[in-house]
Amino acid sequence: MTIFVTGSTGFVGRNLLEYLVKTQPQQQFVCLVRDLAKARAQWAQQPPNIRWLVGDLLRPDTYREALQSAELVFHVAALVGLRDGDAFFTQNTEATRQLVYTLTASNRLRRLVFVSSISATDRYPGSPATDCMTEAFPSQPQTDYGRSKLQAEQRIMASGLPYTIMAPAYIYGPHLRAGASTERLINDLKAGKRYTRFPFPGAVSAIHVEDLSEALWIAATHPNTLNERFLISHPQPVSIVEALATLADCLGLHHTFTPSPNSNLERYRRKKPAPGGNAILRRILWEHYFACSPAKWYRATGHQPAIAFSDGVRKTLASLSKTP
Ligand SMILES: NC(=O)c1ccc[n+]([C@@H]2O[C@H](COP(=O)([O-])OP(=O)(O)OC[C@H]3O[C@@H](n4cnc5c(N)ncnc54)[C@H](OP(=O)(O)O)[C@@H]3O)[C@@H](O)[C@H]2O)c1
Repeated sequence: MTIFVTGSTGFVGRNLLEYLVKTQPQQQFVCLVRDLAKARAQWAQQPPNIRWLVGDLLRPDTYREALQSAELVFHVAALVGLRDGDAFFTQNTEATRQLVYTLTASNRLRRLVFVSSISATDRYPGSPATDCMTEAFPSQPQTDYGRSKLQAEQRIMASGLPYTIMAPAYIYGPHLRAGASTERLINDLKAGKRYTRFPFPGAVSAIHVEDLSEALWIAATHPNTLNERFLISHPQPVSIVEALATLADCLGLHHTFTPSPNSNLERYRRKKPAPGGNAILRRILWEHYFACSPAKWYRATGHQPAIAFSDGVRKTLASLSKTP
């Protein structure tokens, strides 16, 4: 079987490819990459069943033939960030539209697995702050990133192609993107920044990228996942306090919370929200903004992401020093 993968030089795609090469050694992988040197540098020894295809999602002529020869497609590539900007619609909606259009001429495709995001559902203003999001929540993305991912989902659903849409919550694990929020949090904890000691009341759902990779393979092959959309995360949301304490503990830092209200942070919370990312960051820290339930996924497949947050963080930190 030929498996076409987009985004394999990024955090999620790279982990997915490593997982697939390990667990599906008999399959052939064609990976669309923009930067061949970057792709090669990520593998100490390149497995013989990976072929790099240099191209760009926005230029279907660079990948048409290979895409139309694939039985499975994992579309992972995107421009990511809880922000606004036209680039999100180009890199996410338009790029997906072109991929989908090219795929409609394929007579080999068994499944298109699209990695979307919890941000495509999002928590609309006024929604209950502590309920876990489910697939039944009305999609009201609050950022251009989320809107662009939702529009990409809609293109896929309307295409008539066999698809599965996976909308993960916060993803963490080895090969974190440089500048990712986890990396920033680690640096701020090490620097002893005051906000890291504040007992924020928020909680988020998260998934270790190894669990996600396993789920993506199940999504591609399980009959109950055909033409369905799933929110995917570990079943237990993580409180911000637990996240900070776990990270500090794994880093070997002496870390205590300051229970008295921190005036700067309280002022920040009360300030009129700026549009886009800042307002959302605030809701993530003070509410259960990105808490979701993967119950639909479990009912459909019997699969449950199993890596507990503390174990996942330990694995992540252990891998950071080894990442090329
Ligand atoms: N990270 C999270 O916490 C999170 C949470 C929920 C959902 N997601 C979803 O997971 C997916 C992967 O995210 P990530 O964190 O792995 O992002 P990432 O590290 O920034 O990787 C993005 C990948 O997409 C590729 N790409 C972007 N535009 C492209 C184009 N026009 N043509 C070809 N390739 C292109 C990038 O190639 P280059 O290497 O050349 O830049 C890179 O390989 C995304 O769909 C995202 O929406 C992520």
